[in-house]
Amino acid sequence: MASDLTAKQLSYAYDGKLALAPINFNVPYPSKVAIVGDSGAGKSTLLNILSGKLRAYRGSVQIGTKELNQLPLAVLQSQVLYIDQLPYVFNETVRYNLTLGDNFTDQEIWHALAESDLDAYVRLLPDKLDNLAGENGRLFSGGQRQRLALARGLLRDRKILLIDEGTSSLNRASAIAVEDQFLSLKGVSVLFVTHQLHSENKDRFDQIIQLHSPAEQH
Ligand SMILES: Nc1ncnc2c1ncn2[C@@H]1O[C@H](COP(=O)(O)OP(=O)(O)OP(=O)(O)O)[C@@H](O)[C@H]1O
Ligand SMILES: [Mg+2]
Repeated sequence: MASDLTAKQLSYAYDGKLALAPINFNVPYPSKVAIVGDSGAGKSTLLNILSGKLRAYRGSVQIGTKELNQLPLAVLQSQVLYIDQLPYVFNETVRYNLTLGDNFTDQEIWHALAESDLDAYVRLLPDKLDNLAGENGRLFSGGQRQRLALARGLLRDRKILLIDEGTSSLNRASAIAVEDQFLSLKGVSVLFVTHQLHSENKDRFDQIIQLHSPAEQH
């Protein structure tokens, strides 16, 4: 299944109240896209539609030639990974936090960690892959948790990554570093909700989708 995303007059309303005003876009696979707009403009709503969480949208959004809300959720989720602001980390080993009980070789795990720029950090842990992540995953910072979630997705060969950037959890330098990490990934589309386009990375996005708050449009 091709992994291009195409939206036509896509919109969303909660209880009759518009949360995402109609938008059109085409995101060829693979591309790097920034999604920007004021608070309340519908950025998280759009990611929730693309990840399959919100099915009752209006208009059309397709992955390849398939309408998203016609696809079984499991099929959509085998293509799309949503990385939220603070991904969950289990009080289990690093290995478990990546495999989640599925079978992957150490080589595959280290490869995914390298792509996520976490391999150096894990190599320094006393028990490496068998190290416990600690209560509430305290071994991993906010940015590292996002990269851990990224590694989970890469292990499973997800083609589209949706990332809702934390607002205040990261300082400017860390936010740019996390963005840089995602922008460098090959063979995946990344749709990145960002509150602020950093000048350092701005030109590296293939496309910027600007959302406007439905309340502003009359
Ligand atoms: N579960 C919900 N039920 C009802 N209304 C909602 C729900 N989630 C969001 N909304 C409304 O939908 C609109 C868009 O919200 P959304 O969270 O998509 O904005 P956003 O662009 O992600 O904002 P922020 O930058 O603050 O994260 C807002 O008016 C919000 O109040
Ligand atoms: Mg949001």
